[in-house]
Amino acid sequence: MLKNLISFKKIPLSNSLLKNKNENINCYDLKISFDEDTKLVSVVDNVSPEKLFPDDYVYDSSQSITMVNHFKDCAEYLQKRFTPYNTLEIGSNSGIFIRHFNPDTTIAVEPCSNFAEITNDMEYKTYDNFWGKDLSELIRQKHGKMDLIFSANTISHIQGLDECLTSVKKCLNEDGIFVVECPSFLEVLKGNAFDQFYHEHQSYFSMISFRNLLEKNGLKLFDIELVPVHGGTYRFFVCNQDSSIDVNYDNINKWEKEEKQFGVDSYDKLKDRMSIMKQNMVDIKNTLQKIKSENKTVIGYGASAKFIQVSNMCDLNASLIDYVIDTTPDKQNKYTPKSKIPIKKYDEKSLENVDYCFLGAWNFSSEIMEKENKFLRSGGKFITHIPKLRVIEL
Ligand code: SAM
Ligand code: TMP
Repeated sequence: MLKNLISFKKIPLSNSLLKNKNENINCYDLKISFDEDTKLVSVVDNVSPEKLFPDDYVYDSSQSITMVNHFKDCAEYLQKRFTPYNTLEIGSNSGIFIRHFNPDTTIAVEPCSNFAEITNDMEYKTYDNFWGKDLSELIRQKHGKMDLIFSANTISHIQGLDECLTSVKKCLNEDGIFVVECPSFLEVLKGNAFDQFYHEHQSYFSMISFRNLLEKNGLKLFDIELVPVHGGTYRFFVCNQDSSIDVNYDNINKWEKEEKQFGVDSYDKLKDRMSIMKQNMVDIKNTLQKIKSENKTVIGYGASAKFIQVSNMCDLNASLIDYVIDTTPDKQNKYTPKSKIPIKKYDEKSLENVDYCFLGAWNFSSEIMEKENKFLRSGGKFITHIPKLRVIEL
């Protein structure tokens, strides 16, 4: 049974940036629910995948040095631990992970053709379709079953998880490994990161809910790790239900205990966390109003999907955040949808004459603090709302 956790009225798609201020955009209610049976938290009545992931999709993971390094390390680690002969990646984006694999034995799936084109040009056979029953059958017929199937920040974006997971099972060798990385819902709750709720993020996996879904579809969780990207990401290690791979029960039981203590499987406890998040939203707007009333310059740092969610969930606009800077060329000289905050190109001089930077890309805060040390040393301040609103200064 589905129970409503938190809802937002008229939220635009987080990556639907405006080319000009007066452009009309569609907004959609965003309703997040809790499933009493599987314990899964997910979006109800979501927008179609074709609208969420168009052929000019702007999110490019290669823009962050942290993510470039993370996927390099991850690829090397998986190759060493599992020595796969062939590999499939679901949601390969600009090739940040597969670039570390042999193109002759690696297949990619990426529905956004702007990105699929890039990896096809890199000699990785890339199917520009949505992962599901039909595509998985085609891949199995053409390329055989896989030793390793990898998917980062994508399984949580797919509607119809039963079809997604049975399709994975059909493409996996008997002792094949399926590795999934997705933001940990436990860490979302710990960080009060309400801005992780957006239409692209269909599901918010706890270990408990993900394991329930795997078991429902003939798969088994045999290990789990927490890796420090995107505010805390679970790396799930999955195999066939009847595989002979050893299960790391100590580790899995440890996480189950922690998740249960925090209440990820309890509707009432989750509702309490939602109230804290709502207070966080009020605090953000009040603080920005106070700072702007003192005539300070406030800009956003990183026009991430999360920044766009904050701007609309907290009802912000360019009178409270003058503009936001970002390194992604496809985002620059556009506007955030609905909140209409201009997005400007980042350069070394971007923070000159700025008083406050609101950390849109809070999940890269260490990378940013290191890069912007000069700004902090000259009296500049960062504002972050994770896990609660605070000003960072030297
Ligand atoms: N894997 C990269 C990473 O972790 O940085 C990209 C993550 S990005 C947030 C999600 C990617 O999944 C997008 O490139 C999107 O096009 C792709 N995607 C969305 N739905 C998909 C589906 N049904 N099948 C395969 N890929 C999908
Ligand atoms: P993400 O959290 O969805 O990965 O988005 C982070 C955004 O922040 C992305 O658009 C790139 C941008 N960004 C910068 O502009 N400068 C930086 O130093 C970092 C780390 C990210």
